[in-house]
Amino acid sequence: MNPTGNLIDGRALAEQIHRETAAEITALATRGVQPGLAFVRVGDDPASQVYVGMKERQCARLGVRSQTHVLPAATSEAELLALIARLNDEPAFHGILVQAPLPAHLNSARVYAAVSPAKDVDGFHPVNMGKLMLGDPSGFVPCTPAGVHELLLRSGVALAGADVVVLGRGNIVGKPLAALLLQKAPQADATVTVCHSRTRDLAAHCRRADILVAAMGVAEFVKADMVKPGAVVVDVGVNRVPDPAAKSGYRLVGDVDFAGVQPRAGLITPNPGGVGPMTIAMLLRNTVRAARLLTG
Ligand SMILES: NC(=O)c1ccc[n+]([C@@H]2O[C@H](COP(=O)([O-])OP(=O)(O)OC[C@H]3O[C@@H](n4cnc5c(N)ncnc54)[C@H](OP(=O)(O)O)[C@@H]3O)[C@@H](O)[C@H]2O)c1
Repeated sequence: MNPTGNLIDGRALAEQIHRETAAEITALATRGVQPGLAFVRVGDDPASQVYVGMKERQCARLGVRSQTHVLPAATSEAELLALIARLNDEPAFHGILVQAPLPAHLNSARVYAAVSPAKDVDGFHPVNMGKLMLGDPSGFVPCTPAGVHELLLRSGVALAGADVVVLGRGNIVGKPLAALLLQKAPQADATVTVCHSRTRDLAAHCRRADILVAAMGVAEFVKADMVKPGAVVVDVGVNRVPDPAAKSGYRLVGDVDFAGVQPRAGLITPNPGGVGPMTIAMLLRNTVRAARLLTG
């Protein structure tokens, strides 16, 4: 047992990655390059404000230049696309992140496709998604799936031949994570099952899993009796549940009933403190890589 019991400490692993990224930033500085990341936020979604704020703070801490464009909720698609086009041509910014979710009148697919694939550090452009599907490592992998993958590797979890069950087939987490773990590659080679709202007997799939990843957005959905004893459980979900005792009136919980599942799991991510910090670490790593590739 490690000192934290069966917990995977996402914060500590993220710090490890930040240290590696900081060393790369120092190396870039010797040739006069400072990585730059431009954030675009549309509307006043409170969670998006929090997420962009956390990412900006990490940029400042590591010495990545950042700039945030906040556009009103009523921004037209043409205005947003014009800003993205300007940022695509702006040499000081090597990465562009358009924070999801966008207001409903904007077509997210068209917006993500407008970001230059070379600056698409979120990995949502169809070219980067396609490269991930094909196993071409020259693309950018979306940050949350990349963070989950890295978290498993750095925790010493064997992926080759493992039965992985991913709950959720979203474009941001479930689908790209399945593609990543399925790669014919030494650090992947898993057998992946993806479950969703139309899956028959989802609990039976979960009970077979050596590695169970919950990315649905349903508070505390995964209960102890859905988990094989000794399985690795990764909780990606972020859900607000009402909590009259909290100042904000709510608290954040994951997709896993942590108290019930922890005693049964071999390894488990806390939530918060698991996947979230890894997502930000991968964003900064992608940004530094974009800076290296664009200036090399
Ligand atoms: N920690 C982080 O850094 C991070 C980053 C991104 C997202 N997240 C969190 O991860 C979660 C998933 O995000 P997402 O963007 O992938 O969501 P999404 O696109 O809405 O996908 C949710 C998926 O879950 C499935 N699902 C929902 N309820 C279900 C149920 N009762 N039974 C079975 N399947 C169900 C949906 O099935 P259908 O396809 O059939 O509708 C869908 O495939 C959210 O809580 C989000 O906040 C966390």
